[in-house]
Amino acid sequence: MPNCYIETLGCQMNKADSERMFGLLSEIDYKPTEDINAADLLIMNTCTIREGAADRAYSNLGRWNKLKQKKPDIRIALAGCLAQEKGEEIQKRMPYIDIVFGTHNLHRLPDLLLELNKTGQSQCELYENLPDEVPETPIIRRTSVTAWVNIILGCNFNCTYCIVPQVRGREKSRTPDFIKQEIELLVSEGYKEVTLLGQNVTAYGLDFENGASLASLLRFIHDVPGLERIRFLTGHPYHVTDELIETVAELPKVCEYFHIPMQAGDDTTLRRMARIYSVDKYVKMADKIRELMPKASITSDFIVGFPGETHEQFLNTCKAVERIGFDSCITAMYSPRRNTPGAKWEEDEELKVSEEEKRERIGYLNALVTEIAEKESKKKYRDTQQEILIEGENPRNPKQLTGRTRQGKICNFDKPASNKINVGDLVQVKIDEITPWSLKGTLLPNSIESVRLEVSTVN
Ligand code: SAH
Ligand code: SF4
Ligand code: F3S
Repeated sequence: MPNCYIETLGCQMNKADSERMFGLLSEIDYKPTEDINAADLLIMNTCTIREGAADRAYSNLGRWNKLKQKKPDIRIALAGCLAQEKGEEIQKRMPYIDIVFGTHNLHRLPDLLLELNKTGQSQCELYENLPDEVPETPIIRRTSVTAWVNIILGCNFNCTYCIVPQVRGREKSRTPDFIKQEIELLVSEGYKEVTLLGQNVTAYGLDFENGASLASLLRFIHDVPGLERIRFLTGHPYHVTDELIETVAELPKVCEYFHIPMQAGDDTTLRRMARIYSVDKYVKMADKIRELMPKASITSDFIVGFPGETHEQFLNTCKAVERIGFDSCITAMYSPRRNTPGAKWEEDEELKVSEEEKRERIGYLNALVTEIAEKESKKKYRDTQQEILIEGENPRNPKQLTGRTRQGKICNFDKPASNKINVGDLVQVKIDEITPWSLKGTLLPNSIESVRLEVSTVN
């Protein structure tokens, strides 16, 4: 059987897409491999959110070209967001790429591959939009306890820095029935946690006529027996309603974890980014979350050096980070993207923030983010006992197991002497050590049984 290796760059959407590619390929007898030297087909699943992400794809492809010169029989495919943006152009420049397909026609991979094998002709197929009926596809996952489940594709916002709407298309929600069926299947295979996935999960169901929402979806899937935890990623503040926050607080399986990117903590910058909310609105949302769930984790993405961002406006972002008390933040220096208003502004000398200034701002913000994360961590976890879902051995220490708290924080603890504990178990751990990004604890005896009892009464 031929082997396929996929290099996945970018966000969780791409990770989930790679799992679908493996699923599709299994139908024509391709097996996943993690050994690039054993692969017959290499797929680069790309990201184009910033120039750096695109550059990574180009340099990897250069390396694959060298490999192909030594092993001319291997096939190279270009997929994902950069392929969707300019796959044709890239294939012209790098003719050793055998197949190009985009984010809208992933399901066509097996046919394109068969066509290539039959004719020996390289293939390039990109759809401008998602098909009316997005086909359900098989999935092969590399995880065993937690799984990603797509609930909505695309994004209808037009943030002025962002290329995602161009490469992922308009919002399209998946039907609640398909989502529930996928989760039931996952649970029957032993999965315990699902993360509902989309660029804009808080807009779930708004494209249906029946008034569906993320809150109604959470209720609909909540009682799948054997499912222990539900998360969702990524939300937009504009669509975070009180009803959603109340639903998360009420449903025991839904984790108190909110990744709701704020992007900037300054009203002028937010307006120019077209984020359509104010700092005040975001703060009120965060306050409401913490009022109902005092230990909830709220995390964000931030961009520094957006064209026109003054030093004072940047400092407003820092103030917001402190005020809201984020549990973690992903920060990035603004990078101009094709066909976006931001890219035009970046060419204006008066608006462009210099690269040096961007680096300075991100350094300062990262230090602050770490300080605040540590403070929040201590506040939330000191002298506590946490429910941990065991995901496996700690890759850095084989004597330890690793898992996450409900709020998504990594927690490591020593393996018990007995073998009673398994990957996928929910256990109770007493927290002994706190760092900004992880916890260390001690497994509490008999904790599995007591947790199972609690869970079965919830069910
Ligand atoms: N849909 C999500 C985020 C999608 S992209 C949301 O609305 O929040 C992931 C992150 O990449 C964004 O949150 C943003 O912080 C960052 N990003 C997007 N475009 C960027 C650009 N041009 N330059 C730098 N960072 C960018
Ligand atoms: Fe990009 Fe904005 Fe859509 Fe998020 S909401 S994907 S940042 S356009
Ligand atoms: Fe990148 Fe595409 Fe995700 S551009 S961030 S992989 S949606």
